[in-house]
Amino acid sequence: MSVAERAVESGGYRPEQSSSDDGIAFRCRSLAVDLGIGDYKRRIIENLNIEVQRQQFVCILGESGVGKTTLLRVFGGLVPAAPGSTLELNGEAISGPPRGAVFVFQNYAGSLLPWRNARKNVELGLEETLPKAERQSRAMTALEQVGLADRANDYPRQMSGGMQQRVQIARALALQPRLLLMDEPFGALDAMTRENLQIELRRIHQASGATIMFITHDIDEAVLLADRIIVLRGKPAAIGLDVISPLPKERDQITTKEMPEYLELRHRIYEMLRGHGAPA
Ligand SMILES: Nc1ncnc2c1ncn2[C@@H]1O[C@H](COP(=O)(O)OP(=O)(O)OP(=O)(O)O)[C@@H](O)[C@H]1O
Ligand SMILES: [Mg+2]
Repeated sequence: MSVAERAVESGGYRPEQSSSDDGIAFRCRSLAVDLGIGDYKRRIIENLNIEVQRQQFVCILGESGVGKTTLLRVFGGLVPAAPGSTLELNGEAISGPPRGAVFVFQNYAGSLLPWRNARKNVELGLEETLPKAERQSRAMTALEQVGLADRANDYPRQMSGGMQQRVQIARALALQPRLLLMDEPFGALDAMTRENLQIELRRIHQASGATIMFITHDIDEAVLLADRIIVLRGKPAAIGLDVISPLPKERDQITTKEMPEYLELRHRIYEMLRGHGAPA
């Protein structure tokens, strides 16, 4: 059995490939989400209808507090949907975190183990599935992907906040997930590192065919990365815009951003977020 097969066998996320498979990863219909209890209970999301194709790279945009993190947590089985909602992954109701789904949370603080160096933190999810040499090389590849190969032996306290966030991203990449749920993963990074990682994540997505749900509040980041962009808006949140990217699959920081399609899409999203656009 190959390393990849063993990883899939032991913890990887396996979409069911039945003859009736329609290629849909997430499906939600009439999705509503309530948070808080008693008098503090509030409807955060209402009547959301989304079907996410497997292998799609979906970016979710919306103003602060609109419900982006909440939606990601619902997709990840961490927050329940309100009664009457339909919420499925590969045709099955979501009732807890799907096996093999990997999260990168909005706030990196505290997510790394302080007594492990960067490489050992990245190896964390691989210890039961891969022999030592293979998981070390997988961890080193992931650290290279986030530009931290030379910091593999450093402990979290020796790294900046942005570096710790990159170790967390490396940990997610090392698991080679089929489903990646990322909440503003590049928010704490400097502009240059962020630009490099955007292109790297896009390349990894093209090579791996993972389904990615990626939250950002950065319009340019969403347009550069996404196959599809969903803008949430309102209280409770509903879909303001849901659009498939017209851009070619191969992206880069210069020519992609000069394309008329890029500028048009950016303009459309900007108008929507500023409240001038008509709902989708
Ligand atoms: N446990 C809770 N009880 C009640 N309301 C909550 C709870 N957690 C979050 N909220 C509210 O739900 C709304 C959506 O929060 P959420 O964190 O999903 O927003 P967001 O779009 O991710 O914002 P940001 O861009 O700032 O991260 C906010 O108005 C928030 O105050
Ligand atoms: Mg959030």
